[in-house]
Amino acid sequence: MHPFQTIIEPFRIKSVEPLRFTTREERAAALTRADGNVFKLRADDVLIDLLTDSGTGAMSSAQWGGLIQGDESYAGSRSFYRFEQVVRDLTGYAHVIPTHQGRAAERILFHTILKAGQIVPNNNHFDTTRANIEVEEAEARDLVIAEGRQPSVVHPFKGNIDLDALEALLARDRDRVPLVMVTVTNNSGGGQPVSLANLRGVRALCDRYGTPFFLDACRFAENAWFIRQREPGMADRTPSDIAREMFSLADGCTMSAKKDGLSNIGGFLAMRSDAWAEQCRTLLILTEGFPTYGGLAGYDLEAIARGLEEVVEEPYLRYRIRSTEYLADKVARAGVPIIQPAGGHAVYIDARALLPHIPPLQYPGIALVNALYVEAGVRSVEIGTVMFGLHADGTESAGALDLVRLAIPRRVYTQSHIDFVAEAVIHVAAMRDRLRGYRITSAPRPLRHFTASFAALA
Ligand code: F0G
Repeated sequence: MHPFQTIIEPFRIKSVEPLRFTTREERAAALTRADGNVFKLRADDVLIDLLTDSGTGAMSSAQWGGLIQGDESYAGSRSFYRFEQVVRDLTGYAHVIPTHQGRAAERILFHTILKAGQIVPNNNHFDTTRANIEVEEAEARDLVIAEGRQPSVVHPFKGNIDLDALEALLARDRDRVPLVMVTVTNNSGGGQPVSLANLRGVRALCDRYGTPFFLDACRFAENAWFIRQREPGMADRTPSDIAREMFSLADGCTMSAKKDGLSNIGGFLAMRSDAWAEQCRTLLILTEGFPTYGGLAGYDLEAIARGLEEVVEEPYLRYRIRSTEYLADKVARAGVPIIQPAGGHAVYIDARALLPHIPPLQYPGIALVNALYVEAGVRSVEIGTVMFGLHADGTESAGALDLVRLAIPRRVYTQSHIDFVAEAVIHVAAMRDRLRGYRITSAPRPLRHFTASFAALA
């Protein structure tokens, strides 16, 4: 290599999209029109959009070029076979079922295999995963290790599942656990990675109890990079080699291609089991489409196939993980409490720690999200009591944590955008005493965070 330290964006820019600048007054009015919920803003009123890293990435010229090669045949499309080959090479799973995005894969899997009263363990379920389990009247149980629930505790693999707790669950209730899931990286727990050792431990338990094991693989490549950086003996392996081993330890996966598929839409369900795959394909035809397109255009399948190849390239992953860490370092050095260490796709601010004067049921995360938007035009998202505090029985309690996630779209923002975000976060943190809580004036169930209305407390 060369003697230079600066990690540069490993691409140059061929096509640009202008940003629209607004005044503080315009943003305050826009937030009022949006009922205090940034999900209801018009994106044109946002300057830097860190709402999600999902479907918001920039495609490469090779992906755009692939679009024109998409085969739009209803059945047996060439683009499907290319997509299927790439997914099989990566995962080793025989059955590859395309879906329009990750939650469709979740719905098809869970609706096919889950019965009321069953339990699905995971490190942490993401919101759609939990909702798709609860809608089947089953229980989504979070078993992340204790370190993973403490924002300021540094641990190399805070996404690991607690193997003792998993074993206790399987020993007691194996008949009620149709599968074990592990989310890589652990989004709800701060974008934290899971080690290969932990995945091997899950495999061993699942073998002992005869339970299938699935990955929620949305951010598998970022997880593989963390393994390479942090797990002893892994430094010389390629990310794709590590990713293959991760998949080899499981029996199947759900995947949102909107994250580490480097695509704007798409997903898949993949597995070894012939019997489950046959049932899933039946439901797929009912709700998504024929098994060789599954709710996607042929050109989407081309973009995902290429995206899955690009996402494991070392210069990309080195830049990707470092740019998230760069933002985390800047805000943490200024004293802003965040989940340590930085996640792969996002920086998570500990809003409960930053705003101790706002109790969880007055939603400190919403207070911080809304202030960041009004002050700086930066859109983030609450991952806390609004997202997870409402239970299936209609009662409400504080979420495990009240976090504000700054999710970084892939290959979209440059270092100066990120410098601006750091400055905005530090500015809002300095005015923390003036921030006030919120109450919910209307909200649906489940997944209330997307459409709830909020009113600021005096
Ligand atoms: N699993 C995880 C871990 C996720 O982060 C997501 C989506 C999904 C499943 C569902 O995938 O959106 O394609 O249906 N997370 C996005 C986010 C929405 O903002 O974190 P999807």
